Amino acid sequence: MSIKVPEHIAIIMDGNGRWAKERNLPRSAGHYQGTDNVRNIAIKANEMGVKVLTLYAFSTENWKRPIEEVNYLMGLPAIFINKFLKELMEKGIKIESIGDLSAFPDSTRKVLLEAMEKTKNNNNMTLVFAMNYGGRKDIVDGINRYLEDYTSGKVTEKMTEEMFNGYLSTAKYPEIDLMIRTSLDYRLSNFLLWQLSYAELYFTATHWPDFTPEEFEKAVTDFASRSRRFGGLNEN
Ligand code: FPP
Repeated sequence: MSIKVPEHIAIIMDGNGRWAKERNLPRSAGHYQGTDNVRNIAIKANEMGVKVLTLYAFSTENWKRPIEEVNYLMGLPAIFINKFLKELMEKGIKIESIGDLSAFPDSTRKVLLEAMEKTKNNNNMTLVFAMNYGGRKDIVDGINRYLEDYTSGKVTEKMTEEMFNGYLSTAKYPEIDLMIRTSLDYRLSNFLLWQLSYAELYFTATHWPDFTPEEFEKAVTDFASRSRRFGGLNEN
């Protein structure tokens, strides 16, 4: 039996630190293991027919962490790409990003931009890294872009919800159907605030490095069993 697979899934990959602590390992070991798991879940999501997978890799709040950890987190995209780009190419996965990359070290930005260029014609799943991303900033940036268009006369209409979608960093992606957060914190942590309005939410106690493709499939199956009413009485 085939199930209704979400087109766009977003994930808050939480619990790398706790995973490491439970094993008496440094926090970086949790992030490293978490990076490997990005590969496992991306491959699985692509196999299942998900079109867009957006992962919260670095938030605008993560700057508050000790500098050594910030530096380590900033290097993860390069570690990921060097290790897995070949496989992503074989699977037809495209890499993109949202958020402000300008604060990242040149070396990381270069590897990331090259990977985006290399994968740009892949047309199975798009893997979007939210990096130096904040949901409030996304909204405020969108308002400012609209203001520029309005004052220059490029746009004359008042803002509508549909128009506003087009001013966000996620403009070209489909609506998010399902948001998963690992490691049992029940919050959005400034992730895609506008975009998650009608998403189904799935929380699990599993720490991100232990979140297996099987559990991902379980979350998708759980999503498929839900009745999405979008404020109405039923979906149709
Ligand atoms: C939250 O765990 C996780 C992060 C802040 C970083 C997430 C990044 C990855 C999983 C790897 C990203 C990979 C790529 C390819 C960009 P935490 O440190 O807050 O865990 P804790 O709450 O248990 O301390």
